[in-house]
Amino acid sequence: MAKGHISSLLAAILIIFFSSPLATAARYNVLNYGAKPDGRTDSTQAFLAAWTQACESIMAATVHVPPGRFFLQNVAFQGPCKNNAILFRVHGTLVAPSDYTVIGNTENWIFFQYVNGVTVSGGVLDGQGPGLSACKASGMNCPSGATSLGFCNSNNIVISGLTSLNSQLYHIVINGCQNVKVHSVTVSASGHSPNTDGIHVQLSSGVTILKSRIRTGDDCVSIGAGTTNLWTENVACGSGHGISIGSLGKDLQEPGVQNVTVKSVTFTGTQNGLRIRSWGRPSSGFNSIVIDQNYCPDNQNCPGQESGVKISDVTYQDIRGTSATEVAIKFDCSKKNPCSGIKLKDVKLNYKNQPADASCDNADGTAFGFIQPSSCL
Ligand SMILES: *[C@@H]1O[C@H](CO)[C@@H](O)[C@H](O)[C@H]1NC(C)=O
Repeated sequence: MAKGHISSLLAAILIIFFSSPLATAARYNVLNYGAKPDGRTDSTQAFLAAWTQACESIMAATVHVPPGRFFLQNVAFQGPCKNNAILFRVHGTLVAPSDYTVIGNTENWIFFQYVNGVTVSGGVLDGQGPGLSACKASGMNCPSGATSLGFCNSNNIVISGLTSLNSQLYHIVINGCQNVKVHSVTVSASGHSPNTDGIHVQLSSGVTILKSRIRTGDDCVSIGAGTTNLWTENVACGSGHGISIGSLGKDLQEPGVQNVTVKSVTFTGTQNGLRIRSWGRPSSGFNSIVIDQNYCPDNQNCPGQESGVKISDVTYQDIRGTSATEVAIKFDCSKKNPCSGIKLKDVKLNYKNQPADASCDNADGTAFGFIQPSSCL
C-alpha cells in the first residue's frame, strides 16, 4: 500500500514537473542550426531556421543566442506563429554587414512582423552605421540606411535589456503595434549621425518606454502619426534632438496623436527638450502632440501654411536637463487648430547654465509646480 502511494506521488510530481511551463518551453539554440559566433560567418539562415522552429512550436518557445558575435544580413522574423510566447534570448552581439550597401537599401535590418507575444531580451545590436554616416556627410549619393530593429503589425511585444549601437538609420521602430513595453534599453550612436532616432513610434497604441538611456544623433524618442496612449518614464536623453512629436500631418489622411505622457526624463546637451511640430498644411489628423505646427522645410508644399493636425492632451512631468539651443520648449501650433490640454509639471531646463527659453504659439494648457523656463502656456 505504502509503496503504491509513493509511486503515485512520484507520478504526480513528474506530471507537475513536465507540465510546468519551464519544463515544456521548447528551446532552439541558433548554434544547432549552423550559426557561428565568430563575427564573420553569415548566420542569417541559421537564425531564420531557429525562428521557424520556435514559431511552429505549439508551446512557448525560446530562441537562444549564446555569447559571441553573430554576423547577420537583413532578416525578417515573420508570424503569425502557433504560440504566443516566444522569447528571443540574446547573450551575444548581432553584427550588421560593415559594407553599408548590403542592408542600406532595405527598410529594416532585424525585423519582426505579424507576431504576437514576442520578447527580445538582452544582447547587443551593432548596426555598423558610421560608414553610412561618413558617406552622407561627404554629400555623395548614399543609401538611406536600415532601421536596426523593427516591429510591424505586432501585439504584446517586450524589448528589454537590449543595447543598440550605431544604427544606420533609426535604432528601434514600433509601427502598427499594440501593447509594447520597452525597458532597460541602451541606445548609443554618435551625435553627428543623421536620422539615428532612438525609438520611433507610429500608428501604435499602448507603448511604454521605461528606464532607458538614449544617446543619438537625432530624436531620442520620436512620436509619429497615429500614436495613442504612449507612456515614457525614466528616460535619459542626450545627445541628440530630444523628444519630438511629429513631424505630423505630412499626409492628408493621417491619424493624429493622442494621450502622450513624458515623465521623469532628463535631457543632456540635446538640441531641444520637447518639441511638437506638424506640417503647415491641411491634414485630417486630429488630437496630436507636436511643437511646431508650422513645420515646412524650405517653405515648400505647404499651401496656406495652416496645419490641419490637432494636438491635445500632452503631459510633460518631471523633466530636467540642458538644451543645446536657447529655446528648450517650443509649442508652435497652428491658428486653425491650436494645441490644447498641454500640461507641464515640474520642468527645469537650462541653456548654458541659465534658464532656457520657452515659446508658445496658439498653445493652451496649464502648468503646475516648478517650471523653468517659465511657462508660456
Ligand atoms: C492614456 O494612456 C495611458 C497609458 O499610457 C493609459 O493608462 C490611460 O488609460 C490612457 N488614458 C485614456 C483616457 O485613454
